[in-house]
Amino acid sequence: MKKHKIAVIGGDGTGPEVVAEGLKVLAAASKKFGFEYETEMLDWGGERYMKTGKMMPDDGIEILKKFDVIYLGAVGHPKVKPGILEKGLLLKMRFELQQYINLRPVKLYPGVWTPIKDKGPEDIDYVVVRENNEGLYMGMGEFKNKGAKDEVAIQTSYNTRAGVERCIRYAFEFTRKRNKRKQLTLCGKTNVLTYAWDLWERTFYEVAKDFPDVKTDYAHVDATCMWMVKNPEWFDVIVTDNMFGDIITDLAAMTQGGMGIAAGGNINPEGVSMFEPIGGSAPKYTGKNVINPLAAICSLGMLLSNIGEEEAATAVEKAVMAATAGKIKSMSAGKMGMGTTEVGDYIASLI
Ligand code: IPM
Ligand code: MN
Repeated sequence: MKKHKIAVIGGDGTGPEVVAEGLKVLAAASKKFGFEYETEMLDWGGERYMKTGKMMPDDGIEILKKFDVIYLGAVGHPKVKPGILEKGLLLKMRFELQQYINLRPVKLYPGVWTPIKDKGPEDIDYVVVRENNEGLYMGMGEFKNKGAKDEVAIQTSYNTRAGVERCIRYAFEFTRKRNKRKQLTLCGKTNVLTYAWDLWERTFYEVAKDFPDVKTDYAHVDATCMWMVKNPEWFDVIVTDNMFGDIITDLAAMTQGGMGIAAGGNINPEGVSMFEPIGGSAPKYTGKNVINPLAAICSLGMLLSNIGEEEAATAVEKAVMAATAGKIKSMSAGKMGMGTTEVGDYIASLI
């Protein structure tokens, strides 16, 4: 039997705490379903950067390539200037490991409060496929006359046909496999961003020809935000670029009960993928045993599916559903009716 090799990066703030609960659930699932794994804990992140000036070893990416999958807590340290850890660690891993898909399920679990009146779990259940390697995130651009009165700052969205096509193709395949409403919505801004979204739109309808069983749909990003609140049940799968995907998935997370439950995966379908809660490191809650580990636990569920442990992945999903319908009172830090570690124990016991 194959032994899964899992790299674990707890990261900053509450990252290590939530990951620890995910690992409890992993241990329970391995016992129940009889698969084997080994973990290696990597101390990469803000603390290490503060101490040594390096957030990861120089050959960090090569190290990661030796694993089957990566489990990540959170990146972001209050004492490190914004952008340094994000670019030097998180985006570096996403880019250099070619995790070109950021998969973000938006699912309202039973018993979880949503700010959207009159909508329930049957209405809020869709998936955002976010392009994860290009767009505005490439960091392309320049200053002209920096600091002067006539300063200009240019930030470029870089989109390649190949990059856009592989993302869209993945989204179509995913929609087909998900087999729910079999509808894929392209979320863009074709009326204003007439270079990038022209390419996206053309590619979308060309690739669509290979998927006659999947219904296509288009919505501008602003309208998408509106429908996500007003009629979330209209969505099945949404595909979009890196920046729009970042923004709409925070809105989506709120509709599913908050960052405490929002999971995601950075996926390279041909390589090493990385699973993480979509929220930040929430440093103010560090060490208080109040942060909600469910997002990390749901990410662990996605990780299990990625390494082929489908039964275990389904069990994690079911355990989380039972827990939200059961004893867990709220998704908010400090209001769960139990501590971080108790939530982990509870889910593990339900596996
Ligand atoms: C996310 C985060 C990151 C992003 C930040 C931390 C760079 O907000 O995973 O959504 O913008 O992608
Ligand atoms: Mn984000």
